[in-house]
This record gives sequence, C-alpha cells and structure tokens, in this order.
Amino acid sequence: MNLPPVGLGTMGIDDPETVATALSVGYRHLDTARIYGNESVVGEGLTAWLDKRETPGDAAGADAVSREDVTVATKLWIDDLGADDVGPTARESADLLGVETLDLLYVHRPRGAYAPAETLPELDRLVDERVVRNVGVSNFDPEQLDRAIDVLDAPLAAHQTELHPLFYKPALLDHAREHGYTVVAYSPLAGGRVREIDAVREVAAAHDATPEAVAIAWATAKEPVVTIPKASSERHLRANLAAADLELTADETAAIDAVEREEELFPE
Ligand SMILES: NC(=O)c1ccc[n+]([C@@H]2O[C@H](COP(=O)([O-])OP(=O)(O)OC[C@H]3O[C@@H](n4cnc5c(N)ncnc54)[C@H](OP(=O)(O)O)[C@@H]3O)[C@@H](O)[C@H]2O)c1
Repeated sequence: MNLPPVGLGTMGIDDPETVATALSVGYRHLDTARIYGNESVVGEGLTAWLDKRETPGDAAGADAVSREDVTVATKLWIDDLGADDVGPTARESADLLGVETLDLLYVHRPRGAYAPAETLPELDRLVDERVVRNVGVSNFDPEQLDRAIDVLDAPLAAHQTELHPLFYKPALLDHAREHGYTVVAYSPLAGGRVREIDAVREVAAAHDATPEAVAIAWATAKEPVVTIPKASSERHLRANLAAADLELTADETAAIDAVEREEELFPE
C-alpha cells in the first residue's frame, strides 16, 4: 500500500485542531482506532481542514488537495471482531470519522472475538460494499499473518506493528517483503523514550538532529516501513514530517540496529 513515510498517530489526541494542523503542514495519513475513543475528534479535524480548503478565496484552498489524498485508517477492537459485529462497527467508525469510505481498516489485535474464518470474510464483504478500501492487521505474528493472507480475498495491505530502536522483529519485515504489504511502525519514538538511548543520541549529535528525528529516519529507511509518530504541537508535527529526509550512514544504522531489543511497550 502506498503510504507516506510519516503519518500521524492519534492515540491520546483529543483536540481536532491538532489533526487539522497536521493536515495543513502536510500529513496525509491519519491513524486512529475504535479503542482510542477519538474517531469523532479525528473526523472533526479532517472535516475542518477540508472545509477550510474549499472556502473560496481562502489561501489554504489554493492547491488542490482533497479527501482522496488523505489515508484515513482505523482499527476494530477485539470485542468487535465477531461476524455480526464487524460490518456495523466499521460503518459506525466511518460515520464518526465523517467519511464514506475507510481507506484502511485493521484488525487491532488477533484476540478476543477474532476468528480468521469468521472475521476476515466480513472485512472482504466491506471491501465489496466499498465501505473499506484496504484491509490491514495489527500485532500479528508470522503464522497469524499467513493465515490471514490465506483466508482474505482482498490483498493484505498493511501490518501495523511496534517498531522502534528498543523493539522490533526483523522477521516481520522479511514476511512483509515476501508478501508485498506495507509495515506501519507504531510507537516509532518508543512513546517518547528514544532520547534515553545512547546509540540514538550519538547519531543525533553527529547530524545536529534530535533523537526523535533519528528514530524516524532509522525506521523509514527500512523496507517496507512507514511510521506514525504521535505529536501534539506544531513544532513536533513539523519536525517529525521532515525527519524522513535525514539520511543515516550504514554504520549509524547498524549501531541502532544493535540496541537491545527487549522493551516492547505493548505486549500481547
Ligand atoms: N496498533 C497498535 O496496537 C498500536 C499501539 C500503540 C500505538 N499505536 C499507534 O502508534 C501511534 C504512535 O505511538 P505512541 O503514541 O505510542 O508513541 P510515539 O509516537 O512513539 O511517541 C509519542 C510521544 O513522543 C512525543 N514526541 C512526538 N514528537 C516529538 C518530537 N519531535 N520531539 C520530542 N518528543 C516528541 C509526543 O509528545 P507530544 O504529544 O507532546 O508531541 C509523545 O509523548 C499511536 O498514536 C497510535 O496511532 C498503535
């Protein structure tokens, strides 16, 4: 799936203005989830930004960017994965987000009511009915990914998984390359902890950059990875978007690859 290297993670964002600001500085991928309880906030921010662009004479409307240029992604929580719940919940999410079509709908975790043979055909049905454009999964292991690919009619578009210098699983990147889907790296700043990692700080100092920028550059340089850092201020939003342009040397990348990878923030 074609996603920009840096999108917006919205967990904890409760102000539509943050979302509208992100879009106005250039974000084109918004990531939310049922369980974050903020789909309406994200929807409000998106609608406010689109309305502003459509106002005649508004400078922001000068270049032609529209709803279709933004990827709106959300996730079904583990309670909503039964065959009877998938469709109604996805439609409700679309309503809350103020969109006709969800560009990307994930299974948030392979737990609770998740049963591949029951859950996934309902996602295919949503694609047929044009409620959903792309299907993704999150927090899956390679066996669960194989099974999902097997059962789904739609191609698997993305796997969203934890990836930052303190935690990532190279086998998941190999799997994605083999099957041709995108890896969406969540918590790419280790929830704000990347500045505590010596190897990251050293690389940052060498580039006169921040540890956060280095973490984003490190992740987005890996194929086929895109990131969704969460940020609240315009300063952080802009800095994270620009970070994908930073180029690390092979030695710098190797030094960060070698950081102990044990600190999973969101274990199963
Ligand atoms: N699929 C899943 O199970 C799952 C699980 C967890 C997260 N996610 C997704 O991944 C997204 C990101 O993960 P996350 O929210 O856990 O953490 P994160 O993006 O790794 O880190 C966010 C933290 O870093 C700070 N920050 C952002 N930009 C910064 C910068 N340039 N300089 C210094 N600090 C900066 C933020 O502060 P400010 O807010 O003050 O800017 C916030 O405290 C979530 O929002 C969500 O969309 C998915």
